[in-house]
Amino acid sequence: MRRIGVLISGRGTNLQALIAGTQSNQIPGKIVCVVSNKPQAFGIQRAKQANISTEIIPHKNYSCRQDHEKEIIRVLETHSVELVVLAGYMRLLTPFFINHYPSAIINIHPSLLPSFKGVHSQRQALEYGVKITGCTVHFVDTEMDQGPIIIQRPVKILDSDTEETLSEKILKQEHEALIEATRLWCQNKIQITDRRVIIMEE
Ligand code: GRF
Repeated sequence: MRRIGVLISGRGTNLQALIAGTQSNQIPGKIVCVVSNKPQAFGIQRAKQANISTEIIPHKNYSCRQDHEKEIIRVLETHSVELVVLAGYMRLLTPFFINHYPSAIINIHPSLLPSFKGVHSQRQALEYGVKITGCTVHFVDTEMDQGPIIIQRPVKILDSDTEETLSEKILKQEHEALIEATRLWCQNKIQITDRRVIIMEE
């Protein structure tokens, strides 16, 4: 069982998907702690419900990013975390944190990267007028939303779609893609060569 730490900032539906994925043994891993930088994040309740250890580490309490990250690392290390999953964690991580977990931090993003980086990706896709968007699970490197891509799932944009309906459809794909990528990582089936990720499924 690989030891997974999840970082969140909000409602935590992706966290919930991961909890289900580990509980059903789809993912050969265990979520050993959930850390939020936001005290009111609903994901914390979800973790508690699943008897997972939680920690709230508000970034506002720290004068610099590195001190905040040091505290997160301290907590993750207490739980011997091997894989860090960013599941709606809305803060950029510095190279200090990223270099601490080489090839062991993954993020879920609601667009087909490299399109529509940053926030409100679903709105960006609608405003740009693309006909297909989706979600991406990728390794985290020192640039925002740009590490090697593990999985992408497409979602068609219909003329009738609003930001809300589109976000809902993408979210469903996010949950599946995140479970899948986490499973592959835990099974050691991911190989990275430069930017390319090769999945070693038999
Ligand atoms: C998701 O759309 C995720 O891709 C983005 O933030 C949202 C988090 O949703 N990074 P939730 O907290 O997992 O419900």
